[in-house]
Amino acid sequence: MEIVIVADYEKVSMLAAQIISEELKKRPNLVLGLATGETPLGTYRELTRLHREEGLDFSGVTTFNLDEYVGFSLDHPSSYNYFMWDTLFNHINVNPSRVNIPKGDASHLDTYCSQYEEKIKQSGGIDIQLLGIGSDGHIAFNEPGSSLASRTRVTALDRQTIADNSRFFSKEEDVPRFAITMGVGTILEAKRILLIASGKKKAGVCAQFIEGPITSQITATALQLHPAVTVVLDVEASSKLKRQDFYRWAMKAREEQFGR
Ligand code: GLP
Repeated sequence: MEIVIVADYEKVSMLAAQIISEELKKRPNLVLGLATGETPLGTYRELTRLHREEGLDFSGVTTFNLDEYVGFSLDHPSSYNYFMWDTLFNHINVNPSRVNIPKGDASHLDTYCSQYEEKIKQSGGIDIQLLGIGSDGHIAFNEPGSSLASRTRVTALDRQTIADNSRFFSKEEDVPRFAITMGVGTILEAKRILLIASGKKKAGVCAQFIEGPITSQITATALQLHPAVTVVLDVEASSKLKRQDFYRWAMKAREEQFGR
């Protein structure tokens, strides 16, 4: 894993958007995996700015989101579908027919999940997948104990995740107990993975997933098995990493040798 430590949340967002925009410029038909949560908001703001001010073109892009709450219709204000349109898609020139977000109110959920997987395959696979990380180490909604080979499916949310995500709802009881999520195995098939994290509250879990043993109890540790992962952290989120000196040294050496 390539570990990049930057000063603060703003810099995490700038760098993540820059990495995505470089991929997009190389490949106008990019298949882009997207995430929800508070962490990607700055990245989405910067991608919007790059579109508005520098003409970054999303017209050929296909997107796949990681997850959605079960039972929520597309227009539910706490749905991830609503979140994505509100924070990104309404502000860029993405073709709506190329936007894919799991449908929380699909009638046959198991069939629907297999179809979602199939659609990812038919698109040629995800070129770059953006990820955040949950406080219990989950990626997408792959809670502790999820198989590291898991596929898109319906899963129960952990109490910790329900408590964490209640900030997006008027009360905790309104947070759904189930979600559709890409599996860890699905995520690992993306050609490149970009995980972003910021703030002290993510420091412990970042140290565990970057430097700890691979375990289904912290599903982000599975990323250690992927050949092309970039982790962008701010100083606070990196503060519990044991090998910080090495990551900084390697960053500096890369800059000197390759310009980044
Ligand atoms: C949710 C999402 C994850 C996200 C996590 C962290 O559980 N399913 O994809 O990474 O929240 O969110 P935040 O960035 O708000 O800390």
